[in-house]
Amino acid sequence: MIAFVGAGPGAPDLITLRGRDRLAAADAVVWASSLVPDALLAHARPGAVVLDSAGMTLEDVLAVYAIHPESAIVRLHSGDPALYGAIGEQIDWCLANGRDFEIVPGVSSLAAGAAVLGRELTVPGVAQSVILTRLPGRTAGSVPAGESLAALAAHGATMGVFLSGARPEELQAQLLAGGGYTPETPAAVVVRATWPDEAVYETTMADLAATVRRSGASRTVLVLVGEALAPGPRAGRSHLYSPDYAHAFRRRSAPGSTAGRPA
Ligand SMILES: C[S@@+](CC[C@H](N)C(=O)[O-])C[C@H]1O[C@@H](n2cnc3c(N)ncnc32)[C@H](O)[C@@H]1O
Repeated sequence: MIAFVGAGPGAPDLITLRGRDRLAAADAVVWASSLVPDALLAHARPGAVVLDSAGMTLEDVLAVYAIHPESAIVRLHSGDPALYGAIGEQIDWCLANGRDFEIVPGVSSLAAGAAVLGRELTVPGVAQSVILTRLPGRTAGSVPAGESLAALAAHGATMGVFLSGARPEELQAQLLAGGGYTPETPAAVVVRATWPDEAVYETTMADLAATVRRSGASRTVLVLVGEALAPGPRAGRSHLYSPDYAHAFRRRSAPGSTAGRPA
């Protein structure tokens, strides 16, 4: 069995219990030292083969899988493996080679970023959608036509931009070009969320590029944008917890009353 395990955003206690258990049971662990804390390796059993994928190609990693056909293998991916985790090609290999695999979800840097900011990303009446995207990298063709940052920015939804800290001016220009954000729209630059050297900068779209530059970071940077990030009291509130909104688990009640609460 090959387990693609989400290691979480950085803090070692943000791996799931299932992920920790898979690590403890693994015969071989492949991990990315550039994005995953080495403290997680303490969960691996003594004697497990531990390999750093930092200097490995996909072929190198697949060769490890191939020479351990009967082993329990854990591939540790940062955050949640389903987001920019490059697990698709490994899954294809598993399917083509008759190898069982599972994906163990992880805490994404998106969730960690919202947590360190102390914000909800989906505020009623303000933003009910979150777009996760990136600037094209060196492999520009990997971002499909229609998914340009400017096109997505036209929605004005909350946006989490991964893998784009190295080109802050282009990032800012593309986000503003969409028309969904103004220079006053709140933005945040979250660097190495939950790591000991975590840094968080709250800013606006007008100062986004300068803020990224000021952070000095270009790699483990998550940029969040949208009105949901505005500080201060919320204009809207969730219907779900409103006294005059009944649903399957609670009757309608007068504001302040305890009627309608489950016994
Ligand atoms: C290869 S992607 C992996 C994303 C990961 N699967 C996730 O769910 O967060 C790496 C990018 O994720 C973001 N990232 C990962 N960990 C981060 C952290 N602790 N703080 C801020 N951004 C992070 C950055 O945008 C970085 O360039």
